[in-house]
Amino acid sequence: MPAVRIIITGAKGQLGTELLSMLKNESDVEVIGLGREELDITSYNQVKKKMLEIMPDIIIHAAAYTNVDMAEEDSDKAFLVNGIGTRNLAKVSSKIKAKFVYISTDYVFSGSNNEPIEELEAPSPLSVYGQTKLAGEYYVKKNLETFFIVRTSWIYGRYGKNFVKSMLELSEEKGRITVVDDQIGSPTYTVDLAQCIMRLIFTEKYGVYHVTNSGSCSWYEFAKAIFEEANIEVDLVPCKTEEFPRKAPRPCYSVLNDTMLRKNGFPKMRNWRDALKNFLHLFLKDVTEENDVNGQAEENLTRAGEVNGYK
Ligand SMILES: NC(=O)c1ccc[n+]([C@@H]2O[C@H](COP(=O)([O-])OP(=O)(O)OC[C@H]3O[C@@H](n4cnc5c(N)ncnc54)[C@H](OP(=O)(O)O)[C@@H]3O)[C@@H](O)[C@H]2O)c1
Repeated sequence: MPAVRIIITGAKGQLGTELLSMLKNESDVEVIGLGREELDITSYNQVKKKMLEIMPDIIIHAAAYTNVDMAEEDSDKAFLVNGIGTRNLAKVSSKIKAKFVYISTDYVFSGSNNEPIEELEAPSPLSVYGQTKLAGEYYVKKNLETFFIVRTSWIYGRYGKNFVKSMLELSEEKGRITVVDDQIGSPTYTVDLAQCIMRLIFTEKYGVYHVTNSGSCSWYEFAKAIFEEANIEVDLVPCKTEEFPRKAPRPCYSVLNDTMLRKNGFPKMRNWRDALKNFLHLFLKDVTEENDVNGQAEENLTRAGEVNGYK
């Protein structure tokens, strides 16, 4: 019988899929991934029934309404998923005494200072998405003591849609790519994030953690690094946020300080550029091999719908 039973919500998303595949390789762990079809987190009855059926020791809540711009016009839905959905899970988690991990975001901050943001700084989200994710944090703290709130940023990896894949795809379609250079943050590789979450959950060092790859850059610098590491020549042009209006405002500076990780003795996250290099090495190798097998340069790079300003 496995020692620990873990549920992952949002198990078909970027982070959920990564966590699922990594936890499957852990000994003494039984991991159950739930996509939206298996569990709609907005239904309290469904959440209660499923959790009582499975009785997990740990719930990793990675499901969310993540379309930052659409949330501005669809605020009820975003609140339902990110706020109420999280409340449902937190309430049931408390009943069954499961540890709880809630994935939150740098967008709970307004990012008006140019200093890395501490875990204990007061959030002040600019966007509806940020407000709804903060509501989720509130419900976690209100209902639970045995929780980890993991705030992260600018996620990319093998699964799902993200900025790195979009840049690679755009480079095949466009001669010139324009990307904003006045929003600063920390790109975070799903593998590194998942590894850190896996270190946290087997401890009782509960609390709010900032977990991103270390270092920072603008979206433009991130794009430049992607093309350098992938050896792709493009005409990459920096632009300002006001030249690229989006529905949702974003923080100008949302670099997160990792004080809680350091104070609790967890290893430092590697630099974002090293992580990116590692990801691209593996990802491009797989794409090339797949193309060789299929004999065509097919659409291996998923088009990203919702990433930050580029055209
Ligand atoms: N992506 C980023 O850059 C970023 C940055 C900071 C924090 N985060 C946070 O990190 C976590 C993981 O993000 P991600 O990039 O992996 O997100 P993602 O790829 O968009 O995955 C989120 C998953 O949640 C599912 N979901 C949505 N509504 C649901 C519902 N009512 N019931 C059950 N599942 C539902 C989605 O299913 P459908 O596909 O069917 O909608 C999707 O598979 C989220 O909490 C997000 O807020 C993300």
